Amino acid sequence: MTFEQWMRASLDRVETALEHYLPGVDVAPARLHDAMRYAVLGGGKRVRPLLCHAAGELTGAEAAALEAASAALEMIHVYSLVHDDMPAMDDDALRRGKPTVHIQYDEATALLVGDALQSQAFITLTAAGNALSDRQQAALVRELAVASGSIGMAGGQAIDLGSVGQKLSRPELETMHRKKTGALLRASVRMGALAGEAPTEASLRALDDYSAAVGLAFQVVDDILDVTADSATLGKTAGKDAKDDKPTYVSIIGLDASRELAAQLRRDAHAALEPFGARAQRLAELADLVVNRVH
Ligand code: IPE
Ligand code: IPE
Ligand code: MG
Ligand code: MG
Ligand code: MG
Repeated sequence: MTFEQWMRASLDRVETALEHYLPGVDVAPARLHDAMRYAVLGGGKRVRPLLCHAAGELTGAEAAALEAASAALEMIHVYSLVHDDMPAMDDDALRRGKPTVHIQYDEATALLVGDALQSQAFITLTAAGNALSDRQQAALVRELAVASGSIGMAGGQAIDLGSVGQKLSRPELETMHRKKTGALLRASVRMGALAGEAPTEASLRALDDYSAAVGLAFQVVDDILDVTADSATLGKTAGKDAKDDKPTYVSIIGLDASRELAAQLRRDAHAALEPFGARAQRLAELADLVVNRVH
């Protein structure tokens, strides 16, 4: 199977799982469920689900287990995007090529979409028939909660908002990126691996090294694309970081050094996968995708 074919098959499964695990619009309150589905379905690169699937293949995880884990990860990610775009945060009007939730619906609905998606993620991880054992469910719930909470994504967002107009040092910037974006990407890999045969400590350490590189690279590239890509390609407003005076890799080390850093992180990601040999091919290809992406 080529990488393209693997991606297409995985993305199909993720889309079907999200459709399955999100409440339908026939369930009350219809408007909230409509807004949740508007935010989640039919858009986004689904990088976290893809990482989860690739890691799960290393440990022989069942498809149904990876579908639940992936859907939960994407729900948390989309919740973070919906809130990130709200006026109190980045105040963005465009996301995934569509009006943001608070524009399409209203601010209170956008808040509640985020709240409800967060809960729905944990409902999904603990749903009957999701092929995860009780032990695995508990482990995945903990991974996702820690990654998205105040020492992970939400904490990184707090640092981001508290840093507007300030000149962060490079280590401070790295810490912010590792929390706001890296933590959930790391959880994607770990949750995929934990959804299969219990991985060894050494395997999990190698996967964490991989995720540390890919997670940081992901946000470095996001910062680069904010400067180099246009809104139509990105599906979100370009040039927003400079306009809002956000500290980014581009603003702190410049565009060329940011590109070099992304390339170095890609090599680091590949090196971390060496112990797995050819079994980690999909993870290696995903590291390339993260660094070479154009949106
Ligand atoms: C954007 O994430 C926000 C960041 C964490 C950098 P993605 O680039 O994964 O956004 P989608 O899911 O493809 O829309
Ligand atoms: C967002 O970072 C990170 C999270 C949503 C957790 P950004 O604010 O840079 O993301 P974009 O550029 O709006 O997608
Ligand atoms: Mg932001
Ligand atoms: Mg933003
Ligand atoms: Mg950005």
